Amino acid sequence: MASTSSFLKNMPELPQIPGTEPERAVLDSFRTAIAKLVSEALPPLTVEQAYQGVDYGKKGVDFTVAVPRFRLPGKVDELAKKVLERFQPDEWIENVVHDKAFLHFTCRTSSLTRLVLTQVHDLTYNTASGQPEYGTNTSGKGKKALIEYSSPNIAKSFHVGHLRSTIIGAFLANLYKANGWDVTSLNYLGDWGTQFGLIAVGFEKYGNEEELQKDAIKHLLDIYIKVNADAEKDPNVKIEAAKFFKRMEDGDESALANWRKWRELSVKKYEEEYDRLNVHFDEYIGESLVGKEWQDKAIQRLEELNLIEDHEGAKLVNLEKWKMGRAVLRKKDGTSIYLTRDIGGAVERYEKHKFDKMIYVISSQQDLHMQQFMKIIKLMEFPWADRIEHINYGLVLGMSTRRGTVVFLDQIIQEASSVMHEHMRQNEEKYAAIDNPEYIAQEVGISGIKIQDMAAKRINNYNFNWDRMLSFEGDTGPYLQYAHVRLASIERNNPQLMPLPAPAALNTELLTAPAARDIVFLLGSYPDVVKTALRTSEPSAVVTFCFRLAHAISSAWESVIVKGEPDADKARARMWLYLSARDVLGAAMRLLTLRPLERM
Ligand code: ARG
Repeated sequence: MASTSSFLKNMPELPQIPGTEPERAVLDSFRTAIAKLVSEALPPLTVEQAYQGVDYGKKGVDFTVAVPRFRLPGKVDELAKKVLERFQPDEWIENVVHDKAFLHFTCRTSSLTRLVLTQVHDLTYNTASGQPEYGTNTSGKGKKALIEYSSPNIAKSFHVGHLRSTIIGAFLANLYKANGWDVTSLNYLGDWGTQFGLIAVGFEKYGNEEELQKDAIKHLLDIYIKVNADAEKDPNVKIEAAKFFKRMEDGDESALANWRKWRELSVKKYEEEYDRLNVHFDEYIGESLVGKEWQDKAIQRLEELNLIEDHEGAKLVNLEKWKMGRAVLRKKDGTSIYLTRDIGGAVERYEKHKFDKMIYVISSQQDLHMQQFMKIIKLMEFPWADRIEHINYGLVLGMSTRRGTVVFLDQIIQEASSVMHEHMRQNEEKYAAIDNPEYIAQEVGISGIKIQDMAAKRINNYNFNWDRMLSFEGDTGPYLQYAHVRLASIERNNPQLMPLPAPAALNTELLTAPAARDIVFLLGSYPDVVKTALRTSEPSAVVTFCFRLAHAISSAWESVIVKGEPDADKARARMWLYLSARDVLGAAMRLLTLRPLERM
């Protein structure tokens, strides 16, 4: 970082605008240079106000200012002319063009290339943390985010809704960290409720210790399915189950001992699978751990507000006033339910973590539940009520394996790996050259699932399509992995150019091809992508960036060559460009929870 700021010293001096971090995002400096010019030409506009008006340009334009947005007195044409008159080309800005209400600016290519590539290099390899930091910022410094995602139900199936929550949530955890937040990730297990009464009844009849140890998730679901079938025929099963769950709620240790073991073994299995997905949790919590105290207080408070209705002994909250219907808060037998546990859980999480933001990544099928939950928290007048955010997403249609419907997470991973493996085998020669095809197939397969999931706006539904997502053509996960591998191979294929000299010794003036400049500008824009994605919580913003970069790189391959370039200095400068592109593409892929591959 030090070297970035020290070489900025040779550049014309600029004011420091609050919220910008030139030492992490050097395009901030280019924007500041534009803002400085515009504000000096158009008093009383301040440089901060002018900065807000500097946007990315369209079609090959670096930055554009729409003059009318400043709402200054005078004709737009004349205002624009004032800016043109004042303009002097310098090391920041090379050119300005006036077009109707717009001013289009071009950054000085030589400075842009040198500064961006040096910054990518320094923030990838020379950071205080020892970790790659290019793209990150410190806007969230000192703030705490709690992010809950995945949250499957023990003894029930892991469905696509859970998969999406897992993928999007793990991305959000990375994203908040990249924006400087302190993040705690939570997996809120569905580990409580009447289904455990059913499992307990079923376990007596169908339980098998060995199978439980081998794969608890699978065995418990088997039992759950069988005992549900029994319950259809015999009403006593449900009565027994309810009794058992009541004993659990009352803290009866003999009822709890088994449940505890089922939970523990299931979590162990889940952890292995999350690990394969490159997904991690700081805490496994669950509905079972939510205390009674706040559940009762919530009902009390809502009673004071006259919102509680009695329905044959059950307690209902009436939220009709807000068009949110009615919801049960406590059952007749006094046992709590999903909604009440969410209320109690939120209070406990606040007391423990004092979060600045708490995010729930849950399917849009639970929009009403989340609206009710957040409304009740507001009605209870917690000062942190506004810090809760529900990040929702649409449905996935038609996910099944060749053997049938998906019920387990490991079926999804296995299917992706095996479909990918078959694809790879079709190219015998290439296949033979790979060291560990199983691992590669799994990683590429998982990348395919994740990219398909994050490619469009969260709220859209999409069709699960193995062939499309695992194809190497089109905007897919395998295509991104391939782009990364190709960049990584440049170093291996050109040992005569290695090691590259230090950044300051590389001649970036040699990187003049438009295709090279396009790549540089995209690399420079990555820190903005990380910021923008946080504002919308949309992984698609990062996916889109990855594909734009991958496409820019693939258009450069033919003209901006390394191997076969007779001028060694030129070849080295180009190699540096491609290695920087690899580093930034890798960073963006990791942000999306992918593991970028070196070979495949
Ligand atoms: N276990 C729930 C389900 O599978 C999801 C939990 C979501 N989180 C929450 N705090 N309600 O539907």
